[in-house]
Amino acid sequence: MATTNAELISRDQSHLIHPLHNRTVHQSGHVWVAGDGAVLTDADGKEYIDGLSGLWNVVLGHGRHELVEAAAKQMRELPYCSGYAGSSNPKAIELAERLAAIAYPTINRFFFTSGGSEASETSFKTARYYWRMRGQPEKTKVISRQWGYHGLTMAAMSATGISSYWPMFEPRVPGFIQIASPYPYRYEVADNVSPGVAAANELEQAILREGPDTVAMFLVEPVQGAGGVIAPQDDYFPRIREICNQYEVLLVADEVITAFGRTGKMFALNHWDVQPDMIQFAKAITSGYFPLGGIGVSDQIAEVLDTADAVWMHAFTYSAHPVGCAVALSTLEIIENEKLPDQAASKGDRLLQNLQAALSDHPHVGDVRGKGLMCAVEYVADKGTKAEFPPEERIGIRLHAETQKRGLFSRLRGDVFCLAPPFVTTDEQLDRIVEILRDATDAVFN
Ligand SMILES: Cc1ncc(COP(=O)(O)O)c(C=O)c1O
Repeated sequence: MATTNAELISRDQSHLIHPLHNRTVHQSGHVWVAGDGAVLTDADGKEYIDGLSGLWNVVLGHGRHELVEAAAKQMRELPYCSGYAGSSNPKAIELAERLAAIAYPTINRFFFTSGGSEASETSFKTARYYWRMRGQPEKTKVISRQWGYHGLTMAAMSATGISSYWPMFEPRVPGFIQIASPYPYRYEVADNVSPGVAAANELEQAILREGPDTVAMFLVEPVQGAGGVIAPQDDYFPRIREICNQYEVLLVADEVITAFGRTGKMFALNHWDVQPDMIQFAKAITSGYFPLGGIGVSDQIAEVLDTADAVWMHAFTYSAHPVGCAVALSTLEIIENEKLPDQAASKGDRLLQNLQAALSDHPHVGDVRGKGLMCAVEYVADKGTKAEFPPEERIGIRLHAETQKRGLFSRLRGDVFCLAPPFVTTDEQLDRIVEILRDATDAVFN
């Protein structure tokens, strides 16, 4: 007889430690045994729409044989080789070429990691190295934003602006500063300028407060993901670019969620015609089938790396892993051939419009928002004041439970329900997501 979900969870709890380990939450967890397209199946055989594409990464959906074949072929030919200087592999070379062709025009050189946190660490160290090599070693500080998520290694955690990640691991690394998020639903305009420009000007104020000679980089998700799907006002990033130019601060786009089509464009700053000095990517590059991330740097930074006489002493055992690079090439081929950024845009429009139609009038739905195929519904205690529910009401936790009962599995930030289903989610599945969230909302509030 097949092993049940409950039996597996009980064994799991004896020997496994989970990311965000929480024994109580895990007690009612799922052990996933299969996936097909946008659907996950747990050990009891129950099916769920994968509302967050795993963790924002499985953009092609589950069961893509092309990716499996790419990995198997590479494993048979050469499962591993070092990526350290003096060693390379054809798939890494080809992947870097491919990325140079599709990324921002100024970004043409790439370094590969195993995931997003390592990409953040790589940016911090590369920014420090760059300024040091240019004779400004005191430019070391990193400015990021509230509600930003950049990973959980010590420095990445210190750049992360979701404060619940900090307390049990304090103190944070010095030299990491946060400014407000442009959060259109909540950002209060103090100045006599538009909210987008006012929010961007907070960067200028922070740079001036810290001293421009001490600030290395501004780390920013084009659309904040884990912090609750927050897209900025249209005038935000153009002003950010101006400020970074004026004070010689590197603009680093953390596109770990947004790169490769999620927002409806291949890279998200293209929505605002802004070019960064560095990008970070991970997740969708392999559709989650193999751990791979990395950074891309501007020609100016690449030139310093190529000409400096001090070795960039930064390396991971799994940098440029040939299997990861092979899977990434196959993923990018599918994303391009099937025009998936366009599909993410149109499916995202459908999802957002239907969410708005179904939920905007609800007395406890404060905001329904999205950009491309990433959306969020923010629940509030009072629509007029936008006051949040007290945590003891456990609104988000109850919504999570009610949506699971109805066959949808996703994630929340507090009482903000986040959605980022695979690009291959069908229209029927998108409509079902909305129906489930509407019914779950009724179940929680009635
Ligand atoms: C924007 C962003 N940056 C960095 C990370 C960290 O990536 P990883 O979990 O692969 O270390 C994440 C993970 O969700 C992310 O969303």
